[in-house]
Amino acid sequence: MNTKDEQLRAAAAAEIKKHEEKVQSDPYRLSFHHMPPVGLLNDPNGLVHWNGEYHVFYQWMPFKPGHGEKFWGHYISKDLVNWRHERIALTPSEWYDKDGCYSGSAIVHNEQLYLFYTGNVFNEKGEQEEYQCLATSSDGLYFEKEGPIIHVPEGYTSNFRDPKVWKGEGRWYLAVGAQNNDEQGKVLLYRSTDLLDWELLGPIAGSNENRLGDFGFMWECPDFFRLEEQDILIVSPQGLQQDGMKYNNTYQSGYFAGQLREEEASFEHGTFCELDRGFEFYAPQTFLDNKDRRILYGWMGVPDQNEPSHPTVVNQWIHALTIPRVLEWTEGQLIQQPVSELEEMREAVLLHSEITISNDQKAVRGVGGKPVELRIEIEEVEDQLALEIFHYASFSYKRRDGILTLSRPQLEDKSKTEFRQTVLKEELKELRIFIDHSSLEIFVNGGKEVFTSRIFPQPEDEDILFTSLGNSTFSIEKWKLSGYRTQL
Ligand code: FRU
Repeated sequence: MNTKDEQLRAAAAAEIKKHEEKVQSDPYRLSFHHMPPVGLLNDPNGLVHWNGEYHVFYQWMPFKPGHGEKFWGHYISKDLVNWRHERIALTPSEWYDKDGCYSGSAIVHNEQLYLFYTGNVFNEKGEQEEYQCLATSSDGLYFEKEGPIIHVPEGYTSNFRDPKVWKGEGRWYLAVGAQNNDEQGKVLLYRSTDLLDWELLGPIAGSNENRLGDFGFMWECPDFFRLEEQDILIVSPQGLQQDGMKYNNTYQSGYFAGQLREEEASFEHGTFCELDRGFEFYAPQTFLDNKDRRILYGWMGVPDQNEPSHPTVVNQWIHALTIPRVLEWTEGQLIQQPVSELEEMREAVLLHSEITISNDQKAVRGVGGKPVELRIEIEEVEDQLALEIFHYASFSYKRRDGILTLSRPQLEDKSKTEFRQTVLKEELKELRIFIDHSSLEIFVNGGKEVFTSRIFPQPEDEDILFTSLGNSTFSIEKWKLSGYRTQL
């Protein structure tokens, strides 16, 4: 612990206090999502289940609702619903991380928690330097920094960050996001036997690797895991051009499935699939819990995408994480489903069966409000079915071409509408929708497609309306949700 660390902790605590009332009274404050106590939150970090507890760390700038010298904030839970906001895990207090303790991952080894993160530095000349660093802890609350363990290799620029560590056959592996001197985004693979000395095996995926062609100038936040005999690389590439319905956000997040041969530093993989079709989703990270579930959290935000236009900025905070989702590999694709623990938040339930709407717009009695979970089982959509949420967002399905569309007013100019779309490759059967005070997560057909977005409706608007062209018949279950119980 050094003096700078103590000063930064005290300053962050003072900042929370100073803006507490403003943040607490914001109608857009979320009830079942991790948000920052004040300031900006971005990537989920260091996700791990250890000694019966879930640890969710996150990128945190406490001093303004904008990016800068990041801290690692820390939430802990035994059940994914009751949370404690813990002591700050890492502050940007050392020469090698003074301009940010950037993203990274956690592993458990010898009854200790190891955090691997990126130390970000702007040197006297204003040039960026990035180091992969280690911090350890025996109680999961107090962390000892061990300093840089990996420096930028020859041929690569200082865009070198977000280490993800896992255990292979008797060795440790680390994947890190990188950019080579030709400004091509890559993932580099390292190997170690002691978690301190790391040997570079080579680039295993990236722009112009594995017959991929040009695919971005920087790859951030790699995450590797095996699921049902598939090796999956989740990554957030930057610099993809919009391509019809694909790649409409400023930066993307998705996955490649294939076969990783660590020792040959090779990863044969298929095409890139976006993980989410909504407006705000980036930098997801996964971990394995004690029930052997592969759980994913994402950031409900995208860097440089209208961030100053979020209406929460005036109340001194911005962004949140998604709800946790279990990943499964089914019929050649990743599917995402909310963890079952979230059912603990369900309060009063309402059930309507066999609702038919014909060429009309209708409110269904009692379906609305926030925070809520909706489950809609579709029996028939003859032509089109749309949900309008709080006179703000609209989600529609056009049966003929299978197109799903989410639209909302643009954040920077509310008089204009923006939309995101994808084609559903089968009939629409089910929607599971989680609505918080300013977020929307729509799971289509058991999580084959997901739309994640922030929404900023009039706070008092609680109407959910259904519109059908032709006949639509469906049933709805609605639960009012209690939200997370969080101790700050
Ligand atoms: C992704 C990212 C990471 C970086 C972190 C900094 O959103 O840019 O690459 O480590 O955020 O906060």
